[in-house]
Amino acid sequence: LQQVQILKLDLTDLRQVEQVAAQLERLPALHILVNNAGVATQFPHKLTQNGIETTFQANYLGHFLLTTRLLPLLQSSSPSRLVHLTSGAHRGAPVAGVPLSLEGINDKDAMGPYARYGAAKLANLIFSQEIDRRLGHLGVYSNAVHPGVVATEMLRLDNFEAMLGSFLGALAFQAAQLRNRLFAYGAQEAALNLLFCAAAPEVEVRTVHGKLIVPIATEHPPRHAQAFNEEFAIRLWEFSEKLITESLAKTKPWAVFVATCWLSAFRIKYLFPYTVDLILIGFILAWVVSVGAAVYARFRIPEPTWYTYLCFTLGLAVVTGPLCGHWIFSSLMQHYYRVGDLKVLSGVDVSNAQGDSMLDAGIVEFAKGNYLDEMRAWHFKHHVTYCVAPVVTNRTLGPVSGCNPRGTILSRI
Ligand SMILES: NC(=O)c1ccc[n+]([C@@H]2O[C@H](COP(=O)([O-])OP(=O)(O)OC[C@H]3O[C@@H](n4cnc5c(N)ncnc54)[C@H](OP(=O)(O)O)[C@@H]3O)[C@@H](O)[C@H]2O)c1
Repeated sequence: LQQVQILKLDLTDLRQVEQVAAQLERLPALHILVNNAGVATQFPHKLTQNGIETTFQANYLGHFLLTTRLLPLLQSSSPSRLVHLTSGAHRGAPVAGVPLSLEGINDKDAMGPYARYGAAKLANLIFSQEIDRRLGHLGVYSNAVHPGVVATEMLRLDNFEAMLGSFLGALAFQAAQLRNRLFAYGAQEAALNLLFCAAAPEVEVRTVHGKLIVPIATEHPPRHAQAFNEEFAIRLWEFSEKLITESLAKTKPWAVFVATCWLSAFRIKYLFPYTVDLILIGFILAWVVSVGAAVYARFRIPEPTWYTYLCFTLGLAVVTGPLCGHWIFSSLMQHYYRVGDLKVLSGVDVSNAQGDSMLDAGIVEFAKGNYLDEMRAWHFKHHVTYCVAPVVTNRTLGPVSGCNPRGTILSRI
């Protein structure tokens, strides 16, 4: 058990999915991936931070991103297994299958709760079959599992209440609990289905892959026409990739702006100016690549708008980020860092201190008995050197209190 490592992952945050995938990609091998997480249709209807309806992203799109990122590793580790948790509810998806547009996915009124959950689970099933078509012959075996009706935490009270109001919601929740107690599989029994797909030799020996598995460990034909439509499976895959690219692209220019601004504004710029310049040139080169992609897309891709948008916003970020950073650095931070690099002088007594030895001091701490003579503010000035208010001491006498004839206590600008 010491070998178990836990990574936190919220499937409704595609950036987090990317990060977890990047961590898993570093594993020397990956033999089994089980995409188990899922939610019932979410009420009220809400979009994730990526702007995609939550039920669809949590049940399907997050898994799609994680899985496609890990396919090369699964392939290099073959024989390997993939298990996708679908549901018998896939048959309740709209007749046309999964909507292949963001507007269709996000449309609040286009699907009822059952159809919405069904569409996400149909997507899981079709995705599983398509992986098997693409990689099954290379030893990456993919199956989809309907675990049956299982007595778990899936049907949550707050979801019922959001859907039906507090009274009816609580009633429907109790009815669902009763149904679970009377008829549902226990979680351990239901897990046999996915264990079969993940570990049983039959998957390879009897070529049980690219299938829908139902309780208990039994093949069953899908119950939606689109699950037999191979052309639809390819379109769903392409749509999913496009949706992810577009969703992540929305935040990329902003991230570039923040990164370039930060690099040009703060201590790293002060300490390693040439390295920062090189990194900024790297960002500019990335933008040039995006210009190339946008031009290419104009001629070769039916919907090139996103590439143009990305190129434009990236260009804006690459220009404004360093400009803002430079302004912050030169007007605020550089001076601060320079002063920080200067000497700190402690216990300075103006009655005997020598000004020349203090010109490289950044911070001067005066000895007890020295104080600011605000009555003499602005009175001492010598070319570009002046005291805003002279520091004096009661023991000091002379024409300019606190400053000996050579101007002991100085602020320089
Ligand atoms: N129960 C059934 O009758 C039934 C029937 C057919 C299919 N299924 C499918 O079986 C799978 C397992 O469901 P279950 O019955 O075990 O339900 P569950 O008890 O509610 O467990 C669902 C799991 O998914 C995780 N999850 C939910 N949203 C997530 C997100 N955004 N990111 C990461 N993880 C998330 C949950 O984590 P947290 O606890 O941290 O939220 C939880 O561990 C699901 O895919 C479900 O669709 C269940």
